[in-house]
Amino acid sequence: MIQLENVSKVYGKKDRAFTALDDISLTIEDGSSVAIVGKSGSGKSTLMHVMSGLDRASSGTVTIDGQDISKLKNKALDSFRAEKIGFIFQAFFVQANETCAQNISLPLEIMKVKRFSRKKRVQAALQAVELTDKANEKAKNLSGGQKQRLAIARAIANKPRILFADEPTGNLDSVTGEMVENLLFSFTKKLGSTLVIVTHDTDLAAKCDHQVFIKDGKIVHQSSKQVIAPAKKPPAKKKVAKKV
Ligand SMILES: Nc1ncnc2c1ncn2[C@@H]1O[C@H](COP(=O)(O)OP(=O)(O)OP(=O)(O)O)[C@@H](O)[C@H]1O
Ligand SMILES: [Mg+2]
Repeated sequence: MIQLENVSKVYGKKDRAFTALDDISLTIEDGSSVAIVGKSGSGKSTLMHVMSGLDRASSGTVTIDGQDISKLKNKALDSFRAEKIGFIFQAFFVQANETCAQNISLPLEIMKVKRFSRKKRVQAALQAVELTDKANEKAKNLSGGQKQRLAIARAIANKPRILFADEPTGNLDSVTGEMVENLLFSFTKKLGSTLVIVTHDTDLAAKCDHQVFIKDGKIVHQSSKQVIAPAKKPPAKKKVAKKV
């Protein structure tokens, strides 16, 4: 579970201070999918960064699986994140001069995954995003959509309990976008992981269990997918003993 309590984030100091997140409280249940929706500049990326421990809140607490992450020192926070969290960035940072396989392997090396299982996980992740034939190609030679898929492969190789994706389909054509969407949902369903997505795409947001709308760093509205309960069977008729 991810819990934010009265989280604020202020960039800059004194007269240049800018409040990007303003007193946000939010709970995200394990295994659920949540879309963060809002206009450009509303604070979506800031919220994802603070929620995932990539950046620290100015005030308030962020608790992940019972751990208040503001209490962790930088090194401990890094390993906490490496173990539990996958992050797909808005500008998908892949290492341009490394091959696809190396890009995926890097976080696993940081986590000290042994060479043999690293190789297996890299292959599985490449296969999941249909980039097996590009394993030894340098990332800079990939197309935009392929780079995005590589960024996803890198984020999922570790089988994270929580996957954050900041505009994962923003720069993609509709077919590749749909493939990326399906990947994110099927991966998280299979592992029972939590999925938090920032998106401008209302169709994608509607596919998530919950939607959180933010404006000027505040939550202005929350909604949930309507789950249509299966129709109840009518109760079986009681047999009435016939009077003789
Ligand atoms: N490092 C920073 N220093 C100062 N201001 C910042 C910094 N990072 C973000 N901001 C400001 O905080 C606000 C929220 O930015 P954020 O990146 O979270 O927006 P966003 O909702 O993700 O927008 P977009 O949809 O365009 O990606 C913006 O006004 C932005 O200019
Ligand atoms: Mg953003």
